[in-house]
Amino acid sequence: MLTLRRKGVSPEITVSTTHDQPLTLPATLGPVTAEESSFLERLDLTRLPRHIAVIMDGNGRWAQKRHLPRVAGHSAGTQSARTTIETCARLHIEALTLYAFSVENWRRPKAEIEFLMQLLREYLRKEMPLIQRNNIRMRFLGRTEDLPAAVQKDTREATEATASNSGMVLSIALNYGGRAELVDAVNAILAARHNSSSVTPPLVTEDEITRHLYTADLPDPDLLIRTSGEMRVSNFLLWQIAYAEIFVTETLWPDFNRARLLEALLDFQKRERRYGGIDADSPAKRAAR
Ligand code: FPP
Repeated sequence: MLTLRRKGVSPEITVSTTHDQPLTLPATLGPVTAEESSFLERLDLTRLPRHIAVIMDGNGRWAQKRHLPRVAGHSAGTQSARTTIETCARLHIEALTLYAFSVENWRRPKAEIEFLMQLLREYLRKEMPLIQRNNIRMRFLGRTEDLPAAVQKDTREATEATASNSGMVLSIALNYGGRAELVDAVNAILAARHNSSSVTPPLVTEDEITRHLYTADLPDPDLLIRTSGEMRVSNFLLWQIAYAEIFVTETLWPDFNRARLLEALLDFQKRERRYGGIDADSPAKRAAR
């Protein structure tokens, strides 16, 4: 049984769980709103996704609606990133991957690109205490070698500073493209085979490709969230989302708060996951995988 404090309402609600070691939500999630607690009451904490991937979209539209410059939407979006990261870590999600900058984003105005790079640097500096407090391991996925030198330095330092943490793996996709990742994986496979003495190299397998992706040691995302209503995957984790459940919300990224995240988790739990088979995804089968 879990006890949750309900913000400004009744002092306690309970959520049942069959975890061997009960999740200590009161201490970790902190006060929850009435809306959040209504989602939490229905959420099965033993059947959360292992890996959540997020396409954070709609920053520009959020700003335009308020007659603000587009970059104001990116600044506002950092709060949603913070909330999502902290909530996922506290719910003991194994991996969270956020799409922060794609290989296509270089086509944006130079000033917006520079703003985004600076925002990321500031974000890493400001959020490091939260990352450490929540025992999060940070990674960066993408062609990071093509990022500005200062960004590369900061991402390297963040990776190193959190490498010995043992909690959630937070991956920030930066200068990331799903097709570029597959090209990089194929080239890495060719490079690994280059010195092989074998005359007829073995055929490439799915497992070999998986092992050469940026996400090699992570489970595939089981839930892909996209904000702002667009029905596209936008070159994000193309190989890894083969069986992901996709949750698209009209909410613009800067408005994506904890209630919206819990709503997405609840929606995920209503889906019947069959992996191309005919059976429902029973908890027993899940545990066996
Ligand atoms: C898309 O909005 C969002 C991005 C380009 C990603 C940037 C995300 C953030 C700055 C959030 C903070 C995250 C971290 C990890 C620092 P858009 O500009 O495409 O919106 P639009 O489709 O409405 O124009």
